[in-house]
Parts: sequence; C-alpha cells; structure tokens
Amino acid sequence: MRKPIMAGNWKMNKTITEALDLVRQLSMELKDIKDVDILVCPAFTALHSVSQAVEGSNIKMGAQNLFWEEKGAFTGEVSALMLKDTHCEYVILGHSERRSIFKETNDQVNKKIKAALKADLLPILCVGERLQEREDDKTYDVIADQVKGSLADISADELKNIIIAYEPVWAIGTGKVASPEQAQEVHAFIRKLISDNFGVETAQGLRIQYGGSVKPDNIKDLINQPDIDGALVGGASLKAEDFIQLVQACSIED
Ligand code: 13P
Repeated sequence: MRKPIMAGNWKMNKTITEALDLVRQLSMELKDIKDVDILVCPAFTALHSVSQAVEGSNIKMGAQNLFWEEKGAFTGEVSALMLKDTHCEYVILGHSERRSIFKETNDQVNKKIKAALKADLLPILCVGERLQEREDDKTYDVIADQVKGSLADISADELKNIIIAYEPVWAIGTGKVASPEQAQEVHAFIRKLISDNFGVETAQGLRIQYGGSVKPDNIKDLINQPDIDGALVGGASLKAEDFIQLVQACSIED
C-alpha cells in the first residue's frame, strides 16, 4: 500500500505572517492524521519560519525550486544545502510554470533532481502536457519525454526517494480538472513507463500525485483511482479550510 501524499504548492503567495497563520491552522486541525503524508511548500522567504512552526508536528515542508550548483556566483539562486538548512524535506522540481515561464528544460530538471538527491531532499518531479499537445494526441509522447529526460541516469534505488506529480497544464489554475479516468490513464502510463525502465517493484512503490484544479469536491473521485496516490494542490492549498478537507478526504481513518 502506498501512503497518500497531499501537498500544498503555495507558489508565489503568502507573507511570513500569512504563512504562519495558515500553517498553524493546519497543524491544529490535522494533528491526528497519520495515514496521509501532509506537505506544505511555501515560498523561500517563509521556509525558515514555517519550519519552526511545524517542528514536531505531522506536517512536512518542501521548497518549490532549487539551483543545482552547491554555492558560488549565481545571483538570486538557492542551493539544495540552503534548503536543507531550513529543514526542508522535499522540493518541487520541473513545475510547468517553471518550464513555461522560466524555460526550464528536462536536462536542467535532471540536474536539479540529482542535486536534491545528493543533499537528501526528496524531489517531486512534475510532468504534464499542454492543451494543444493533448488535442494533437501527443500526451503520452510528452509525458514519456519529460519522465525519461528528467530521470536520466537516476538509479532504481534513487527513484525510491522521488515522487512524480502528473499535472496537465490545461488543468492548472483553470478550474478545469482532469476527469478521474483521464488522470488514471496517464498515471497508469507513468507507472508502466517506470516499470519498464526501473523494474516492477520500483514502479509499484512509486507515489504519483495528481495536480490541476484539485478541490474538496473532486478529490474523492481522484484519490479512489488505483494509480493516484495523492495530490499537488495550488489554489485550494492557500485556504486552511479547503486544504484540511482535502487531507481528510485522503485519510481512511477519518
Ligand atoms: P491549482 O490547484 O491552482 O490548479 O494548481 C495546481 C498546481 O500547479 C500545483 O502545483
């Protein structure tokens, strides 16, 4: 059984005060949940404060990006070691917003994944097709290309520390969620791809999150799919009430 992981990607939102307010509500309301991994991913500026606020709780923290070099003259960048220093455990890499706005390539995402693993951070690798690619029947080609390219030279052993998030670009922030069947189809495809390249056992253990307009009213149908192991949530993770409901929906103990 794969433990579901519910992650909030706060993107470029929340001051330190706002972040602390949100995370305090979450840790109070979700303190009894044990069968779901709960993760918040604040902006860099709030990491240190949030990590202190969640210390000793069941809420884990991740960052939204890193740069692959360890240190040096890279103005504006943040290294894996710096993230570790703030007590991050996870890092989101290759998000579609980074791929489209900041032109990140699979090759760069691959370097970032390696840097994260080296520093003992658990990468969440994001993949997903754009609307035009789906309409052109290229979804599987795009996903295969992103998965293989981003995971180049990664071993099966290393893959045990990686999570994949399938986030169709057309569903992000649009209110247009993929149907549970559409998402399941791509998740199953990703698992098969991992199975073919890294072995069945690794593929069975891999957690694959869905992301894109996940809300309290659609989470149940998504999480009930056999290959959907949680969600990476944007908008709905910014409201305590919504994120609490999302986590609770993934808990069978609840
Ligand atoms: P929304 O939940 O706002 O659609 O964002 C999804 C996302 O990009 C999570 O990484």
